[in-house]
Amino acid sequence: MDRFTVTTPIFYVNARPHIGHAYTMIVADVLARYHRNRGADVWFLTGTDEHGQKVAEAAREAGKSPQALADAVVKDFQAAWKGVGIGYSDFIRTTESRHVDGVTQALARLHAAGALYEKAYRGLYCPGCEAFVTEKDLDEHGLEPLHQKKPTVVEETNWFFRFSAYAGEVKKRIERGDLAILPHERRNEVLGLFAQGIGDFSLSRSRERVPWGIPLPFDPSQTAYVWVDALLNYITALGYGSGDLSAFKTYWPADVQVIGQDILKFHAITWPAMLLALDLPLPRSLLVHGFFTVNGKKISKSLGNAVDPLELVRQYGADATRYLLLTAFPFGQSGDINIRALKGKFRADLADTYGNLVARVATLVAEHCDGSVPTADADAAALAPIAAAHAEAAKAAAENRSDALLAVLGRALASLGQHLNVTIDRAAPWKPENAVNREEVLRTMLEGVFRLTNLLAPLLPSTAGVVRGAFSASGQPYGGDARLADGARVAVPPILFPKT
Ligand code: MSP
Repeated sequence: MDRFTVTTPIFYVNARPHIGHAYTMIVADVLARYHRNRGADVWFLTGTDEHGQKVAEAAREAGKSPQALADAVVKDFQAAWKGVGIGYSDFIRTTESRHVDGVTQALARLHAAGALYEKAYRGLYCPGCEAFVTEKDLDEHGLEPLHQKKPTVVEETNWFFRFSAYAGEVKKRIERGDLAILPHERRNEVLGLFAQGIGDFSLSRSRERVPWGIPLPFDPSQTAYVWVDALLNYITALGYGSGDLSAFKTYWPADVQVIGQDILKFHAITWPAMLLALDLPLPRSLLVHGFFTVNGKKISKSLGNAVDPLELVRQYGADATRYLLLTAFPFGQSGDINIRALKGKFRADLADTYGNLVARVATLVAEHCDGSVPTADADAAALAPIAAAHAEAAKAAAENRSDALLAVLGRALASLGQHLNVTIDRAAPWKPENAVNREEVLRTMLEGVFRLTNLLAPLLPSTAGVVRGAFSASGQPYGGDARLADGARVAVPPILFPKT
C-alpha cells in the first residue's frame, strides 16, 4: 500500500481558532481523505505552536502563565477541528516532551554539524510575525503593516544559522521541482527571493528576554527561535530524536505541507535549509493557499463570532462549512469571504443542486423501481463527465499536484450536479410515455449520484457516508470505476442540506 503524508502549520495559541485557520485545516483534511479513500496509508499531522514571545505576551495580557493559556486554547482548537470534521492522525503540541526532546536533539546536531555560529546582532523585531523586519518593511508610521505594531529594537548576541552554506542547494531543489511549490506562481515568488539574496538568520534569542521556549543544549543562556522550534514539529511528531524511528521512516518526507502564503518564506527557505543541515530528506511539495479577509476586514479578535468556524458549523453543518470555505474562491488566490453571501451558495449548490438531486433520484427509484437498483445498464455517455472528473483527480493525485486535485474536487459539485439535474429533467422518467427506458435512466442517475458522491466524499465526508449508506454501498470503493450492486436497496435519505 502506498502512503501519503500531509501536514498543516501548527497554530499559535495566542488567539482562538478562526475561519482562516479552518481553511488551512480543511485543505489538508480534503487531501488526506482523498488519499485515504483511494486506499493509501495516510499520515495527517497538525498541532499547536505554543512557545515564543507572541504567546508569552498574550498570556501576560490574559493574566495567565503561558502554559495555562496554551492548555486552555489548545482545547478550542481541538473542539473546532472536531466540529469541522477533521480527521487528523496526530496532534502535536510544542510543549510536549516528545517535541522538546526532538528539538533539543536537532539543535545539538546542527551545532555539531558546524551549521551554527555566534554573532552580536541588532535588529527590529515584530513579535506578531515572530520575525525580524527591516525599516523597508514598515509603513509610513513606522508600524509593521500586518500587525500594526511598532517593532522593538533588539540588540544581543545570538546563534546564527549558516544559511549561506545551504542556499545554493535549496534553490536547486526548488528549481528542479524536487521540492515543488504549488501553485507555480509561488515557486517564482520564492526564486525571486533567492535572486535578492538571503542572509544567515539568527536561530536563538537571549533566554533572559525570551524565557518561554526551548533552551539551546549547548548554550542554556539562549532560547531556540520559535520558528526553528515550530518547524521541527513536522519530524518530532514522527519520533525524530527519540529511540524509535519507525514512524519517521514510514512517513517522512511529507508529500504535501499545506501553508498560507504568509509563512511561505519559513517553509521554502528556512525549513529546507534546516533539513539539509540535519541530513534529512526535504518535503516533496509545499501547497500554498491565499490569505483572506472577512466581510472586507482583516480577521482579528475584535470581529468576534463571525469568524468562529463553529458558528458556521452551527448554521450550516460541518460538511457545508467545509464546502463553502473551500470553494469561496479558486485555490491559491486571496480574497474576501462575505459571510452573508455564504447562504446563497449554500442554497444554490448544496440544497438545490446536490441535496435535491439525491432526493429526487432516490424518490423516483422508490416509486418506480421498488426501492432497489434496477439491473439495466447505465448510459456511459451521460456519465462521461463524471468519469472524466474522477480521472482528472486521479491524475493530479498521482502527480502530487494537490492544487489541481483541489480544483477538480472544488468544481465537481456545482458542475456535475447541474449536469445530472439537466440529464434527469431531459429524460423525465416520471412521465408515463417514458416508461420504456425508465430503468436505464434511473440506473444512470443512481450511478451518477453515487460516483459524484464518491468524488465529493473528501469535502462532504458525513453526507457521502449517508448517501452511500442509503444506496447500500458503504463498503464500495470510491474510485471512478465503482458501481452499485444490481438489486441493492435504495432508501430515501433524510434531507441532506435543510435550508436555514
Ligand atoms: N505558528 C505558525 C506556523 C508554524 S508552522 C511550523 C503560524 N500560526 S498561525 O496560527 O498564525 O497560522 C496558521 C495558519 O493559518 C497559516 O497557514 C496561516 O496562513 C493560516 N491563516 C491565518 N489567518 C488566515 C487568513 N486570514 N486567511 C487564510 N489563512 C490564514 O503561522
